[in-house]
Amino acid sequence: MNKTSQLISLLGGTGALADKLNLQPSAISNWKKLNKIPLNKHNAILELSINLNVNIEKFLPVKQLPKIRAKILLIICGGIAAYKSLELIRLFKKIEIELDVVMTNSAQKFITPLLVTNLNEKKCYTDLFSIEDETKMNHIMLARKPDIILVAPATANIMAKVANGLADDLASTILLASFSKIILAPSMNPVMWNNSATRANYKILLDRGVEFIEPDTGDMACGESGAGRFPEPKLIFENIISHISESESLANQFKGISILITAGPTIENIDPVRFVSNRSSGKQGFEIATELTKRGAKVTLITGPVNIPIPKCEKVIQVTTAKEMLDKVTQQLPTDILICSAAVADWKFIPQTPSKKQFDINNKIKKSKNDNLFFKTIKNQDILKTIANSNLRPKIVIGFSAETKNVEKNGKSKLISKKVDLIIANDVSDGKVFGDDFNKIFLIDKNHCEEWNKQSKKSIAFKLANKINNLLTDFNL
Ligand code: CTP
Repeated sequence: MNKTSQLISLLGGTGALADKLNLQPSAISNWKKLNKIPLNKHNAILELSINLNVNIEKFLPVKQLPKIRAKILLIICGGIAAYKSLELIRLFKKIEIELDVVMTNSAQKFITPLLVTNLNEKKCYTDLFSIEDETKMNHIMLARKPDIILVAPATANIMAKVANGLADDLASTILLASFSKIILAPSMNPVMWNNSATRANYKILLDRGVEFIEPDTGDMACGESGAGRFPEPKLIFENIISHISESESLANQFKGISILITAGPTIENIDPVRFVSNRSSGKQGFEIATELTKRGAKVTLITGPVNIPIPKCEKVIQVTTAKEMLDKVTQQLPTDILICSAAVADWKFIPQTPSKKQFDINNKIKKSKNDNLFFKTIKNQDILKTIANSNLRPKIVIGFSAETKNVEKNGKSKLISKKVDLIIANDVSDGKVFGDDFNKIFLIDKNHCEEWNKQSKKSIAFKLANKINNLLTDFNL
């Protein structure tokens, strides 16, 4: 008798077990034949064994049972990729996540609720005004029960509805009535994805804390090509799992660690009206500050002038010039980690007349009196290099490297010349990365250079936090 057969007999035999698990006896016979119990039945078996007071550890790898206890609501919207969400259901079932599924009307043009119900072994919800559903699991309960609501595929339509607070069907009503984490995995035609209306809705949703699993780029079922393809279900699945484990296990990862982060541009005034600055938006630095705060770090963020919401962290100091930034950074030391993501203006520009006479910079330089202006430049101190070479040097120092060519090579030289432990180098040659939600980087340390694919700045922050976490013990933190 194989192990599975022994286990089944311990639990009362094929018929009794089939009864208790609400399965056909043939399914149980099959397990015996294959000597294997499907992963998604492990917990049910474990619960049953506890009820029957039978020790099954010899037969089932109890220690390997999935630890994830999160509840997920999957909302399937109408798109060609709707069928791929079936694979997602299969993956969630495999690790026995508690899953409810809602389908929009359009989704039902591609796949049927019956198919989903069969796969999920649970009723699939479709109707906002179903008397039967409302008595058992009303839409408010559906909205409140899950830890995560995953909308996959998410259409341009659902994005527009959520961004504008429309609630004209079950899916949009749930999304409006929920306090849960909302994650959208969009899939649509590239022109729709890039349409300014969709971009605006995307931004609204991002600002409200909705997260996105970005669509892939490539050939689409509609025959066009570009960004908008549904990401691989496995990738979405892994993203959700990492979200769950992230919130469960990452919350205290950086507890007791102080991190100083510079972000955004700095500004050098020419006169009270004009200034010299750069295109930095502060997004990448803010994402890093947010992620490390989420993981329990005591983050102090020193930022230049930006037009994006200031993230929640222990302390935020707003500065204007490079000199102010250096002064504030120095005042905040000592700290365990320093991350310089700011695009610090490298020079001050002192306006002069053609005869090299300086202006009174407290007054506006008058065009009527000056056909030409000349500028004397004064180099600003390099904050990163200064601190990394000082005796107040934090244990871990991380810098950025904005390049227009030889990204990897220049990044490596900055690692050495500035004496930092890690460099995040990116190509800024087309200026688009500034203000964009995406970045493509090289992560460089003294021994390695990793190329990271184009991904959201949030995702870069997440992975960078993992990297820094791996460094903590090496640097005695
Ligand atoms: N940096 C800094 N203070 C400065 C200039 C740069 O702290 N005055 C930091 C940036 O925050 C970044 C790193 O140095 O972490 C590299 O900045 P970058 O603008 O890429 O290069 P620079 O050092 O300014 O050199 P170059 O302009 O020659 O590329």
